[in-house]
Amino acid sequence: MDSIIVRGNGPLSGQIPIAGAKNACLALMPATLLSEEPLTLTNAPRLSDIRTMRQLLASLGAEVTELQEGKVLATSCHGAINPVADYDIVRKMRASNLVLGPLLARLGHAVVSLPGGCAIGARPMDIHIDALTALGAEIELKEGYLHAKTRGGLKGAVHEMRFASVGATENFLMAAVLAKGTSVLKNAAREPEIVDLAQCLRAMGAEIEGEGTSTITIQGVDRLHGATHPVVTDRIELGTYMLAPAICGGEVECLGGKIALVESFCEKLDAAGISVEETATGLKVKRKNGRVKAVDVVTEPFPGFPTDLQAQMMALLATAEGTSVLEEKIFENRFMHAPELMRMGARIEVHGGHATVHGVEKLKGAPVMATDLRASVSLILAGLAAEGETMVSRVYHLDRGYERVEEKLRAVGAHIERVQGE
Ligand code: UD1
Repeated sequence: MDSIIVRGNGPLSGQIPIAGAKNACLALMPATLLSEEPLTLTNAPRLSDIRTMRQLLASLGAEVTELQEGKVLATSCHGAINPVADYDIVRKMRASNLVLGPLLARLGHAVVSLPGGCAIGARPMDIHIDALTALGAEIELKEGYLHAKTRGGLKGAVHEMRFASVGATENFLMAAVLAKGTSVLKNAAREPEIVDLAQCLRAMGAEIEGEGTSTITIQGVDRLHGATHPVVTDRIELGTYMLAPAICGGEVECLGGKIALVESFCEKLDAAGISVEETATGLKVKRKNGRVKAVDVVTEPFPGFPTDLQAQMMALLATAEGTSVLEEKIFENRFMHAPELMRMGARIEVHGGHATVHGVEKLKGAPVMATDLRASVSLILAGLAAEGETMVSRVYHLDRGYERVEEKLRAVGAHIERVQGE
């Protein structure tokens, strides 16, 4: 397994290009199951999670071709479709559950393995099941697999989710576009990745209104056609790299970044003493004068502060002046980076869904271990702020969500290198 070595850094300067969003791409790729014609996704990120989704789609009968070094994915689903998403692939990545809605819509039946446990909490599937059941699916759990079927196809319906789940909204959308009649989803998730999926489905001929708000209306159509769609910018990769100059000083422009993607995050950065300026090409970030100030953060569904930036924000606040409280409202058990940061000298107390961070003047480099995707990058950021050397092991988590992280950070002057494992 590879490790990453980071050495405490002075100011950074330069530009970092931000890739297409992993989470958007993972929802867009299964949309290919909805049409016999090809779907081409441009600006796709080159990540191991995307390769896992390719593998899953191929196992279902889709053809996936990579063009331009993986940045363009051409998918086509014109042949026979296998309705079974196998445990061996699904267990690697929870987003595999996003084939359930499109398989049901196209075939009227599907057998999809439950994803199983996840390091950041239990992550059940009840909201997905309720949403698809509202459209007329009958879903049973047998031997670890969800067996879903319809009697005469899916039918449009009005449904309100008990929580604005991102994945369940995506599954509902992909099912309702081919259902008979009109569907209305209330308490829908409003994340930019949902807007991106709706735009892509519309380019394929779907009739959707209201994406980006809590109520989405879908008028079912008989068939969808092919389309070419650019994947939206990755707001989590954007927020992560915005924290690099916040932590090290200097000024970095994140190319392709837009405030609208990270507004609540920018508000917290401003309160912590970090300035963000939107330019014609991206977001320029620099630390205002002096030490970063403590701020309190609560993670919430979009447009609130994203849970996927909580670990990285904690790395920043570990050296802030004063005490910050971070409250995690989306996932239980998402503070596993805290004990690792404490190995580097951070002063953090975790009580249930709250972490209290007492800022210290300086962190100290240490060997640490990545526990999940966002935790691993938070340790790299902390390493940039620490005295001495930090070795982050188990970085395979990182490769699921960040392409060429060492290259991107090195280009702005960071001292970081990858050590190949056995
Ligand atoms: C997506 C993102 C993930 C992000 C999360 C929240 C992808 C591939 N992943 O995950 O990076 O952290 O949104 O912004 O897009 N829940 C239930 N029952 C369900 C579904 C969810 O109880 O049926 C709970 C989950 O356990 C969790 C919360 O709802 O506590 C949020 O989950 P959800 O919005 O569904 O996240 P994902 O779509 O899995």
